[in-house]
Amino acid sequence: MVKGRNGMILILLGAPGAGKGTQAERLVEEYRLHHLSTGELLRTAAAAGSNLGKLAKSYMDDGQLVPDDIILSIIRSYLDEHQGEGILFDGFPRTVAQADGLSGMLAGRKVVTLALEIPDRMVIDRLSARRVCRSCGKVYNTASGIMPHGGRCNCGDGGELYQRDDDHPETIRKRLEVFHKQTEPIISYYRRRGALRTVNGDGAPDEVFARIKKALG
Ligand code: AP5
Repeated sequence: MVKGRNGMILILLGAPGAGKGTQAERLVEEYRLHHLSTGELLRTAAAAGSNLGKLAKSYMDDGQLVPDDIILSIIRSYLDEHQGEGILFDGFPRTVAQADGLSGMLAGRKVVTLALEIPDRMVIDRLSARRVCRSCGKVYNTASGIMPHGGRCNCGDGGELYQRDDDHPETIRKRLEVFHKQTEPIISYYRRRGALRTVNGDGAPDEVFARIKKALG
């Protein structure tokens, strides 16, 4: 892939905890893409207490997907604001209906889909140990040995580290079930269209990123 914001649409797929957010941070920097994480956008709306946020939170806290029509209308607005620009979709699409909706909106633009694969047994361990900075959104992991001292983020604000409401074992199990049932079918959807690359997500984050760059060519 040519470096620079080149109109590429990159879709990052993978189970909860596969490392989509962690790799997205590196990808947007390396390839100069806009980053849209639907999960992050919905959490921001929930924290702001908007009607959309309250509705989304009720699905998220239960480990379920937010309805397709809500997500597709968010994506439509985002694409209108970023016409022709390179975008990394992180956590979207998540259903065949969303994938179909996106394909209708992109009208022939080149799409590359990257699926990060990790074994199910890793998902609960990674997500139960995840901590997020309330101020800048940086993601840590209590099992990684790179937690900042004093339980505050290294960012300028020294933000408090919190555990996401959906990162508790029971909700994580539900999210994983939903992934297998509703999201996994879109992996074959993109494979059939010749637009899928798969990458082993088991390994240190920099090692996984090197595999991604190789897969993107
Ligand atoms: P979303 O926020 O998208 O959550 P998710 O897909 O479940 O993915 P996560 O954010 O949990 O994991 P990740 O793959 O980004 O992993 P991370 O890099 O943080 O969605 C949340 C909810 O919003 C959904 O359940 C749904 O309700 C709703 N939603 C969102 N999009 C939607 C849509 N399109 N349609 C409908 N509903 C939608 O890593 C996890 C942890 O592991 C971190 O602690 C990290 O430090 C660590 N880690 C990462 N990589 C490695 C590595 N290589 N080795 C060791 N540890 C690692």
